[in-house]
Amino acid sequence: MPPSPENSPNAVISEQAVAAAVEAALAAIAAAGDTAQLKAAKSAHAGEASPLAALNATLRDVPADQKAALGALVGRARAQVGQALAAREAELAEAEETARLAAEAIDVTAIPARALPGARHPLSTLMEQMSDIFIAMGWEVAEGPELENEWFNFDALNMDADHPARGTQDTFFVEPEERHLLLRTQTSPVQVRSLLDRGVPLYVVSPGRVFRKDELDATHTPVFHQLEGIAIDKGLTMAHLRGTLEHLARAVIGEGARIRLRPNYFPFTEPSAELDVWHPTFKEGARWIEWGGCGMVNPNVLRAAGIDPEVYQGFAFGMGIERTLMFRNGVQDMRDMVEGDVRFSQQFGMVV
Ligand code: FA5
Ligand code: MG
Repeated sequence: MPPSPENSPNAVISEQAVAAAVEAALAAIAAAGDTAQLKAAKSAHAGEASPLAALNATLRDVPADQKAALGALVGRARAQVGQALAAREAELAEAEETARLAAEAIDVTAIPARALPGARHPLSTLMEQMSDIFIAMGWEVAEGPELENEWFNFDALNMDADHPARGTQDTFFVEPEERHLLLRTQTSPVQVRSLLDRGVPLYVVSPGRVFRKDELDATHTPVFHQLEGIAIDKGLTMAHLRGTLEHLARAVIGEGARIRLRPNYFPFTEPSAELDVWHPTFKEGARWIEWGGCGMVNPNVLRAAGIDPEVYQGFAFGMGIERTLMFRNGVQDMRDMVEGDVRFSQQFGMVV
């Protein structure tokens, strides 16, 4: 409904009424903090339902001799409000534009927030470097499953049903038990897999991940890596084993690397030895540290793979990759290798 004296009871035209309407309008315009608030102020104070519009409407009813003066009064008031609106509108529009531009600003000189390319873990590259040393001697690289059959992990390796390593103390068995699956505790099952798949003569290394219920400490982790090696041919002796291990130690750790073989027992080798490396920078002082195990392949393992041990003999070895990284790079704590902090890997060079 258009404003009229009847429905706008306060709209009695006078200088004071016009001044009050203007004052209210100017205050609302000044108070408007953004263009939306200004739009509301405009409609309240300059729109059809505004007090000024109502006063304007009463001009019809004023005596003819006052019409011109009051009309001019209202006209000036409306013009004043209109100007104030336009000025505030320009001001707010500029402020909003400035804010928008600031928000959208792009610093073309800034360093781009690009995602860094990932890099390979030093254990992965070390396994490849160790495999390459054997490839250079004409050996092959084989893979075996991490989820392994109990027969390959234990039985075929001449380990009795009551061998302590089978116990739930050391081995992660996978349910259901009757499937006889486990997370392999060593890379040695690849010895048997390779004998069965590739036959003899055989020269194979197999790097990979293994699992044991070991506590995480400076020199042990429950998930670690080994490099297995097996060589079966006619006339191989322990001297070939020792020469191969010495070559590996020098090639991977350094020309000055020293190894020793210490008599030991493994069911799948006979005779067996523990392989130690001299660690001159060990944090508690220079000493020999176990690197792996080795020995002449037990005839029972060859028989399990259908090979006649009277004709073919050979040697096998398996060493820890984490330990190798410790010796080669002076890493004092194995836990650094599993924490996934990129600063650890970066020291070894970012190989993608
Ligand atoms: C074995 O696993 C035998 N399969 C090695 C072998 C292969 C013997 C072929 C004969 C012929 P052993 O349990 O000692 O042996 O482990 C071998 C190496 O794995 C250790 O010397 C050590 O370097 C590494 N290793 C063992 N347990 C851990 C662990 N929890 N964390 C890191 N490295 C480990
Ligand atoms: Mg051992």
